[in-house]
This record gives sequence, C-alpha cells and structure tokens, in this order.
Amino acid sequence: MLEQVQILHAEIARFQAEDQATLEAFRQKFISKKGAIAKLFAGLKAVEPAEKKALGSVLNELKNAAQEKFKVLIEQANTVTQTSGQPAEDLTLPPPAHALGTLHPLTSISNDIIGIFERMGFNVSYGPEVEDDWHNFTALNFPDNHPARDMQDTFFLGTDKVLRTHTSSAQVRVMESLALPIRTIVPGRVFRNEAISARAHCIFHQIEGLYINRHVSFVELKESLFFFVKALFGSRTKIRFRPSYFPFTEPSAELDIDCRICGGKGCKICKYTGWVEIMGAGMVDPQVLTNCKIDPQVYTGFAFGMGIERIAMLQYQIDDLRLFTENDINFLRQF
Ligand code: DAH
Repeated sequence: MLEQVQILHAEIARFQAEDQATLEAFRQKFISKKGAIAKLFAGLKAVEPAEKKALGSVLNELKNAAQEKFKVLIEQANTVTQTSGQPAEDLTLPPPAHALGTLHPLTSISNDIIGIFERMGFNVSYGPEVEDDWHNFTALNFPDNHPARDMQDTFFLGTDKVLRTHTSSAQVRVMESLALPIRTIVPGRVFRNEAISARAHCIFHQIEGLYINRHVSFVELKESLFFFVKALFGSRTKIRFRPSYFPFTEPSAELDIDCRICGGKGCKICKYTGWVEIMGAGMVDPQVLTNCKIDPQVYTGFAFGMGIERIAMLQYQIDDLRLFTENDINFLRQF
C-alpha cells in the first residue's frame, strides 16, 4: 500500500490541468468518493490494528496533497481560460458608459452668478484666503473695537494674519492694484469662528462685487442688482432694498427677495416674514477710496457681497448648510 501511496503522490505532483475536462479527470481520479485515494482508505479496514494508525496518517497526507493540488489547478484553469483563445468576456460588447460626476451645487451656482455679472461687463478677480489686518479690516474702515474683529468671529493666525472673514478684503487689493475704472467680482472661501449648524458654518463662500468709476450713482447699484436678481431667480422675483450699515459703504443697504421656499407666504427659512436677505451692498465709503489711494472727489463706486450657500439654498430648496460639505454622493448626484 505504501508503494501505491508514493506513486499517487508523484502522479498528483506531476498533474497539469489544461482545461475543465482534465480538471474534472483529476477530481474523479483523486478527490471523488470512487477515486483512488478513497479506495485506499477503504483498504484500511483490512490492515492490522497495529499499523492502522500510521497508515491512516500517511493516507490523510495524501488526501490533503490532492486537495491542495486541486485548488491550485482550479486557479490555473481559470487564468488559462481568461488568457487563452476563448475570452471570459464578450469583447464585441460596447464598453460600459463612464460614470460622469456632476458639478457641486456651489460650483454651479457660482458659475451662474459669475456668468450674469460677466454679461454686465464685470471681470473676475481673486484674493488670498490668508489676509492681513489692513485688507480684511483696517482699510475697510472697521474701527479697532469693531465686534467683527472679536475672537468669537475671526480666526487669527499670529498677530497680523487672519483667515479672511469676507471677500470684501479683495476689494481693497483690487483697488490698490487694478487700473480705473474697475468692474470686478471676487468669488471665494471665507472663514468665521462659528459653531456648525444647519444655518451656520465656519467655512463658507461669498461673491464680492465692485464698480468704481466717475459718477457712479446709487441708481446704478440698484439697477445692476435688480438685473442680477431677475436673471438668476426669474423675472417675477420681488425685490426690496432695506437701509443697513456696513463700515465700508455709505449709504448701505441689504437686498431681500421674496422667499423661494414658501412663495412669500411665510415659513421657517424666511422666519415667517416672506422675505429673505441675499446680500449687502452700498456706495463705497469715501474713506475706503482714500485708503486705497483713489480720489473720492473724482471717483465713486458701489460694492456688494453675497453668500453663495444662502443663494444655493434658496435656488435648490436646501434647508441644511451642512449638506454642502458632507460629500454625501446621493445629495450631490441630484445636481
Ligand atoms: N462683507 C459683508 C459680509 O460679509 C457683505 C457686504 C456688505 C459686502 C456690503 C459688500 C457690501 O461689498 O457693500 O457680511
């Protein structure tokens, strides 16, 4: 019997499976219940009890070797089928379509906003996210004790650097560097030290607008913003201007539109007033022009700034700011 075991071991080691048929032949010969190894096990009954144990373990070894080899052969057979004449896949089928991504809602609303202002003759500028005190606050007329400078709102980086709290800082850079007249918008990320909730985030996006020329009037500010709102939200949109205060504009205003979510009837988003504020605006304060070395006797201008998340929320009826940054693919695929 031992001799037979040795022969089988050698045969197993030598065996090559070219295809499914030889694989099946191996299975029948060595693995199946009617195979050679099973027969040897059956023969154990006739063996002397003293030898039974030793012989049993020799047979077990043979059985394991056959099973191991069978696994290897199956793997080999699979690779052979894939690389040989008969491919596992039908190469005549058209390739699967590429899964195309979609634009993030903030990107697509920014593109819409930028497009409208470009049609009105504005170009696009950018400013740094890490700003100094001059550009973020001082040049914009923020008094030293202004609450916006407070630790609660601003992320300070060392003594003079901050993460910009608004894109208005880029106004100053643009006025310092571009030739007059200036007609530009500045999209970008801004940062405020706020607790994250459905209505507030520490990182969000704004678009700033600036027009500086001779004889720019408040009428032009109003007309430009009316045009913009109707182009973005539709010609039926109701608009109102409210007097407001910003250190860098005089006079200042806030622009409200009728609530897109409830159609002006009153809901949680518009705090049951029927109106939502979408931007701040005003005539550039003469002191700001002077700070930027522009003569306020010759030039006037208007500026405005809006939060992109707020506008996207109204446009797409999204009621939680956090959705914009959570990267939930099911949310993002809707746009
Ligand atoms: N910077 C203001 C903010 O973050 C928005 C703003 C208001 C920008 C009035 C302006 C403006 O340019 O004229 O709340």
